[in-house]
Amino acid sequence: MKTYYITTPIYYANGEPHAGHAYTTIAADALARYHRVNGDDVFYLTGVDEHGANIDKTAESKGYSPQEYCDMLAPIFTNLWKRLNISNDIFLRTTSDLHKRGIHKFLTALYESGDVYKGHYEGYYCRPCERFFPDKEIPEDKTCPDHKIPLELVKEENYFFRLSKYQDKLLKLYSDQPDFVYPDSRRNELLNVLESGLEDISISRSSVSWGITLPFDPEHIAYVWIDALPNYITALGYDIDDQKFHSYWPANVHMMAKEITRFHAIIWPAMLMAIGLPLPKQIVAHGWLTKDGEALSKTRGIFIDMDGDIETYGVDAFRYYLLREFSFGNDGDYRPARLHARYNADLANDLGNLLNRVLGLLNKNFDAIPSPTTPGEFDDEIKTLTEETITSLDEHIKAFAFDSALESIWVLIRRVNRYVQQTEVWTLTKPETKPRMGTILYNCLEALRIISVLLSPFIPETSEKIQLQIGLKNFDSDTNWGNLQEGILVSKGEPIFPRVDLKKEEKTETMKPKQAKPKSKKKISENISFSDFQKLDLRIGIIISAEPVEGADRLLKLQVDIGDETRQVVAGIAEHYTSDTLIGQQVVIVVNLEPATIRNVESQGMILAASGESVVLVTPEAEVPLGTEVR
Ligand code: MSP
Repeated sequence: MKTYYITTPIYYANGEPHAGHAYTTIAADALARYHRVNGDDVFYLTGVDEHGANIDKTAESKGYSPQEYCDMLAPIFTNLWKRLNISNDIFLRTTSDLHKRGIHKFLTALYESGDVYKGHYEGYYCRPCERFFPDKEIPEDKTCPDHKIPLELVKEENYFFRLSKYQDKLLKLYSDQPDFVYPDSRRNELLNVLESGLEDISISRSSVSWGITLPFDPEHIAYVWIDALPNYITALGYDIDDQKFHSYWPANVHMMAKEITRFHAIIWPAMLMAIGLPLPKQIVAHGWLTKDGEALSKTRGIFIDMDGDIETYGVDAFRYYLLREFSFGNDGDYRPARLHARYNADLANDLGNLLNRVLGLLNKNFDAIPSPTTPGEFDDEIKTLTEETITSLDEHIKAFAFDSALESIWVLIRRVNRYVQQTEVWTLTKPETKPRMGTILYNCLEALRIISVLLSPFIPETSEKIQLQIGLKNFDSDTNWGNLQEGILVSKGEPIFPRVDLKKEEKTETMKPKQAKPKSKKKISENISFSDFQKLDLRIGIIISAEPVEGADRLLKLQVDIGDETRQVVAGIAEHYTSDTLIGQQVVIVVNLEPATIRNVESQGMILAASGESVVLVTPEAEVPLGTEVR
């Protein structure tokens, strides 16, 4: 069996975890689960980094010993990971015996490599980063660019690691293994650092008391990063469990955000080279989750209300939103309105309604899952698309493109929804058409079963619910088409994502303030008859995407979800609205207007807006179910 070892950073235990930590841990969890469901022997590590001056200081300011403080914080992390359904195999604490024993062996080996020497260090230090800034990186204002606090001038006697000696070896590693650091933007950054020359680094602190004593000099404490990085090997029982260590090391992926790649992709491999251990296969860095464009930060108190959003939408919706919305290597701004829109459009509508509808039809017309006896139009397309989705999912996962991975699954979900519409399966109730109805419903359920397997790395709880509703007692992870057995009793089908309506006050907050304008000068048009008016079919929809139309500054191409289907509408509102303010907005749409092609883009309806000097969309005063008629 192939092994797959994946790690997150071990997070500092100097404050509670936030949504940024959750993002890395969920992304790594998706990879761990993906490899598990595909049959690999996975080991997934996360944990906490508990030593260092920073934690000592925080604990003291709160009136605890550092150990007491860490003992209080560790369960806050583990409880959050449990709540988020994280499937880690170990939660490593750097104050644990396992780590202390391993680090002792590691530091001894490093010392014996001959690449450690004693010297003096004077430099600018950032306490929250726990790092000295090399001379060429000290900003003019001597302020840490990440934490926005002044750097401290620190002078100490330290042990040093001869990092400079490894410059050429690291350059060779980067050229032999171009994907050692992923994505390329991060690799290029680090290549610049490498090419501009490496300085030796201090690996101990004489002024710090909370940490691990150097085995070769009890007067010194290991620098917190030198204590932390080897957690990736100590967690495998580096000094006590050779078999486990060798079966999982080297790690397949060390996952993290962009700010700590230098430690992982320069210092860590150099130290491993020094002690003769294999190097991790890949250092993978994502961007930062931001709030209003600013990095989340314990130190600066910038937070996302993760608890509130999980409470409202559930854990899977939160996981889904993070993985679906952000493009992995880039920064991404967390927006509750987008989570809301994704929840209602993708989860409640596309996925939840599909399952509900298929189970409803099945329960109404059959006693159990029917056999697929009567093939017909579109069946092969569904089967082929399911198989293609499995392949494309694998490609996206290999590129850490969780957003595209989920989008490819949603292409399939939407296709199955269309299959239900195209075949008008609900009409096939007569005895002579019923076998065809049974076949279509079987195909829908089989697609949903496979979809639940494909979704299991991302939204595991939902996957289980889907399979339970299909009537499978044990989770069936086989993705071969046709594995679903006929004769299984399905459940009644409770909605897996009940629609969430924003409370009125929240809705008001997300809406753009609109200025009153002078009244319109246009004369009232001639009367029409009531029956003329009745010809208009007006419905409530929600805007789920908005993009510019090429070559037309005033136009936007909108996708509007109207409950049973999604309409594409071209609207002349680009000068008045940005896509950010539109997405998640409920609107009134004329759904029986003849389709038109505007600038080569098909428009399948029209959204209503008050249109004078300014253009203001007409929206329902409170949120209503999609597809509701407007009269
Ligand atoms: N203790 C070190 C890591 C040692 S690993 C050997 C550390 N801890 S940390 O608590 O600061 O965690 C940093 C990591 O948390 C980031 O690399 C990332 O994985 C995650 N994130 C923290 N804030 C984040 C965002 N705003 N956005 C995305 N991820 C974020 O560094």
